Amino acid sequence: MKNIVILISGSGSNMAAMVRHAQQEQWSKRLQTRVSAVISNKAEAQGLDFARAQGIATVVLDHKAFDSREAFDAALMDEIDRFEPTLVLLAGFMRVLTAGFVTHYAGRLLNIHPSLLPSFAGLNTHQRAIDAGCRFAGATVHQVTSELDHGAILAQAVVPVLPDDTADTLAARVLTQEHRIYPEAVAAWLRSQG
Ligand code: GRF
Repeated sequence: MKNIVILISGSGSNMAAMVRHAQQEQWSKRLQTRVSAVISNKAEAQGLDFARAQGIATVVLDHKAFDSREAFDAALMDEIDRFEPTLVLLAGFMRVLTAGFVTHYAGRLLNIHPSLLPSFAGLNTHQRAIDAGCRFAGATVHQVTSELDHGAILAQAVVPVLPDDTADTLAARVLTQEHRIYPEAVAAWLRSQG
């Protein structure tokens, strides 16, 4: 069985969409893959409750307990590697990762970003898209490299920006597409590995 480890910091709706998709599409049977663990850097992340209710192992690793980014990432790698993951998924994980971490998981570390990369890497993507007068926005699934929100693009989805959109209404429209393309991109990645 191949293991997926998902890293979250908050509501974890992308993680929940991944778990539900894996159940509906019978990944354990068809792709010999399961979501084995959900790891959060915040104890209050709501996504942890969902994962626990699904019987998925959860780990909380508070970054504030560490003196440096390197020390946190080293401890995070130890926690992740206990599950021997084929794939590590960032899903609303709000930490910038060190080059050492990214190198350790090279080729098996994916992220979902709420913009049409390479436009609007970084934070506040929806407000920035509105402020720029974009007619379209969207989401991107990509390989993680040491440059923030770069790396090969695996999937994208496009949504319209409507005239009366706020960052919140646009974010909600984009998020429904994130929930669709992230599981599909992961399934395609797993199939491509044979
Ligand atoms: C998503 O929009 C994700 O793309 C971004 O942060 C949000 C996390 O949402 N990086 P959730 O925790 O998956 O609900």
